[in-house]
Amino acid sequence: MIEVLRTVDGMRRWHRQTTGTVGLVPTMGALHDGHRSLVRASKGQADRTVVSVFVNPLQFGANEDLSAYPRTFDRDVELLKEVGADAVFYPSVEEMYPRGESLTRVAVGRMGQVLCGRARPIHFEGVTTVVMKLLHIVEPDYAFFGEKDWQQLAVIRRMVEDMNVPVAVVGVPTVREASGLALSSRNQYLTPAEHRLARNLSKALEAGRSRYEAGERNRDAIRQTIWNWLQEQGLEPEYVELVDPDSLETAPRQLDAPTVAALAVRIGRARLIDNLMLGRN
Ligand code: PAJ
Repeated sequence: MIEVLRTVDGMRRWHRQTTGTVGLVPTMGALHDGHRSLVRASKGQADRTVVSVFVNPLQFGANEDLSAYPRTFDRDVELLKEVGADAVFYPSVEEMYPRGESLTRVAVGRMGQVLCGRARPIHFEGVTTVVMKLLHIVEPDYAFFGEKDWQQLAVIRRMVEDMNVPVAVVGVPTVREASGLALSSRNQYLTPAEHRLARNLSKALEAGRSRYEAGERNRDAIRQTIWNWLQEQGLEPEYVELVDPDSLETAPRQLDAPTVAALAVRIGRARLIDNLMLGRN
C-alpha cells in the first residue's frame, strides 16, 4: 500500500505513525529508471521510503521550463507502487510556499555559482531551500540524490554539513540508456535526431576518460579532448570543466586526485548535463 500525502501535517502524521528508519527521495516527478534506482537504494538502506514529487518554482529561472516541465503524477504513482515506495509527498505550490514567497533562503555561496550556476544563478539557492524544507517536513534518516546532478549532490552534502542537518546524504550512480545517454526527465524535449546527437555527451566524457586512463594528467588536454568531441558533432558546449568532486573548485593543472569532468550542452529545447569521475572506481 502506498500513501499519497498532500499536506505538511499529513506527512508529519505519517512519520509519527511509522516505526524504523525513513529514507527520502526528493524528485520533481516525470519519473524514470534513474529515480527508480534512487528508490531501490533507499529501500536497501531504510525501513520506509518516502518519495517527494514537487516541481519547485524557486529553482527555475524566469526564462526556464517551469511551465513546460512534464507533469505525469498518475503514472509516477504507478511506478512508485511497482518499485515499493511506502509514501509519496505531493504538495501543492501553496502548501510549500503558503506566504507566496520564501523570504528565507539557503545558499551555499560559490558552490552554487560555478558550473551550472553560471547560467542558472538562482537555481541552487532554489534547490537547497526546497531540500532543506523537505528535510524538515519529512525528517528522514537518509536522503538520496543522483550523481547525474553532481553539483546538486555536492551542494546538498555541503549544506547538510555546514548546517548540522541530522540526515545521511547518499549519492546514487547515474543510470544511462544503452547508448550511454544519462536518463533525464528533460530528454522528453528531444526530437529523435536530437536524441541521437545527445549520445555525444557521454561519448565525449568517455573520450576524456580514455585519455586519462592512457596516462594523461594534464587538465586542459583532457578538457580539450571533451570539448573537441562535442564540437566535431556540431554541439556548442555551455561549459566543460574538471573540478574537485567535493569543493567543485577547478582541478589543478596536473591532476593528482579524483576529479569530476562535468559538462552542459543545449540541444534544441533541452539543456542537458552529464559528468564522469576520473581516478576513482
Ligand atoms: P529531479 O530532476 O526529478 O531528480 C530527482 C533525483 O533523481 C535527483 O537526485 C537526480 O540527481 C536523480 N536523477 C535524475 N536522473 C538520474 C539518473 N539518470 N541516474 C540517477 N539519478 C538520477 O533533482 C531534482 O529533481 C530537484 O532539483 C530536487 C532535488 C527534487 C529539488 O527540487
